[in-house]
Amino acid sequence: MTGSAIDVRARAVQAPEEIRILAVRPIRRAILAWAAHARRDLPWRTTRDPWAVLVSELMLQQTQVSRVVPRYEAFLERFPTVRSCAEASRGEVIASWAGLGYNRRAVMLHRCAVTVVVQHDGQIPSDLGALLALPGIGPYTARAVLVFAFEHDAAVVDTNVGRVLARLAGVGLTAQLAQSLADALVPKGRSWEWNQAMLDLGATMCRARVPACEVCPVQRWCAWGSAGASGDDPATGSAGVSGPQSRFEGSDRQGRGRLIAALRERGSVSRHVLAEVAGWPDNAARAQRIADALVTDGLACWDGQCLRLPSD
Ligand code: ADE
Repeated sequence: MTGSAIDVRARAVQAPEEIRILAVRPIRRAILAWAAHARRDLPWRTTRDPWAVLVSELMLQQTQVSRVVPRYEAFLERFPTVRSCAEASRGEVIASWAGLGYNRRAVMLHRCAVTVVVQHDGQIPSDLGALLALPGIGPYTARAVLVFAFEHDAAVVDTNVGRVLARLAGVGLTAQLAQSLADALVPKGRSWEWNQAMLDLGATMCRARVPACEVCPVQRWCAWGSAGASGDDPATGSAGVSGPQSRFEGSDRQGRGRLIAALRERGSVSRHVLAEVAGWPDNAARAQRIADALVTDGLACWDGQCLRLPSD
């Protein structure tokens, strides 16, 4: 068989029923057989501890696997349980997030840990509704915890999986279609293994810029890959598939990163050196705006004339 095994009919219609998978069993078999020898050996794959899984999945959302590995281990050494994180100050959690970027995730993780302790006696819940109700937990993270900690039959759709699905189907998907297609592919009782395989397939074969279609286990069923991966990439703009990151050099993100790095190192930054520390000695207004945004985001607080990590 060549061409798409997934029929997304009436493309303007976005109901999940519009997807039919014509070769679900061979696709599952091919991906699981490939993963049996290709699965990456990653530290969060040896645990079913919901806290460790939650930490890893939050880290992996916006940071590359190779950068996450050492930081994941160090973070869990410092905060081995939900309770240890909840009992620490937000500033300590932000300090331990060093090297991962997108520091707001540390604020959300701390808030989430506090909520789990207060509302769930320190036990991370194992149902979708309760997980989604936690601060900082969206549909991806909630399902990742269900699958990778509790081995529930569910599917995760991150940027890598979203790309695989859109290319298989040969068309950009809405979030609802992508999730229902992902759900329909999960082999019952093997969701842990299956979802790790889909993440690996997206990261190592169905790569964003240079896909390895010629050695991909599902090329023959893939609408895009079986047609030579030429023409418009159906993954572009498809649900959950992120585009290239915006430029970091000279961005506000860079200034935020410099200020947070200084707070981690020295504990505080005095208002009169903010602009210099942020990297724009001639633009005090910009540095001030960025410092204020850090405060709004819960990443820092003013203590008189000094910016500090939050101590609550
Ligand atoms: N990205 C998100 N979750 C992942 C996982 N469990 N393994 C590898 N990459 C991931």
